[in-house]
Amino acid sequence: MPDISSLFVTRLYRAALSEFGTPVDADELENSCLSIAEDDEAGQDWCEANDFAGYTSYASLTDLAWRFPIFKDITDSLDQHVAAFAADLQFDLDDRKLVLEDIWINILPEGGAHSAHIHPHSVISGTTYVAMPEGASALKLEDPRHAMMMAAPPRTKDARKEMKNFVYVKPEVGDVLLWESWLRHEVPMNMSEDHRISVSFNYKWS
Ligand SMILES: [Fe+2]
Repeated sequence: MPDISSLFVTRLYRAALSEFGTPVDADELENSCLSIAEDDEAGQDWCEANDFAGYTSYASLTDLAWRFPIFKDITDSLDQHVAAFAADLQFDLDDRKLVLEDIWINILPEGGAHSAHIHPHSVISGTTYVAMPEGASALKLEDPRHAMMMAAPPRTKDARKEMKNFVYVKPEVGDVLLWESWLRHEVPMNMSEDHRISVSFNYKWS
């Protein structure tokens, strides 16, 4: 029998946010996100000026965890999730740590999308899901080796998940997903009439 193994693996972390720290009430978090968005005129102006569908606090609010206790609970929990993922990734962090760099709210309306991107300057990125109504977009993850695959045949439709070139993950409210920040990902068009709400974040090596 041949010995065929997997090398250079891309890891994806999925867990319930509540697995660590103080449990966060999903309705309270959704209401907090909506009221922060409503009050954040600078953020609304930025989204309009940049043709951003819906709302993001990315460019306007840099201190969610200091301003809102519910976000402090989330970041305390995320610190532990990220530490668990870093252990799985077998990172040698020396005597430095992975620390939160940014955390921001995303509210995606019907028809909104977020095109493929990476998160430069960070080590671990991820999202926790606040409102995922029926028909809300999955997260689409892309094989990081595409640039080297110009002559490779496509994969079969029923290829194993780890063999696919694109993977769609449909998280549930209260889930947290983590990946390495170089992994390209996108949010395809939101087909739900209701808002898809999430909180995204970056961790850097500090
Ligand atoms: Fe992203």
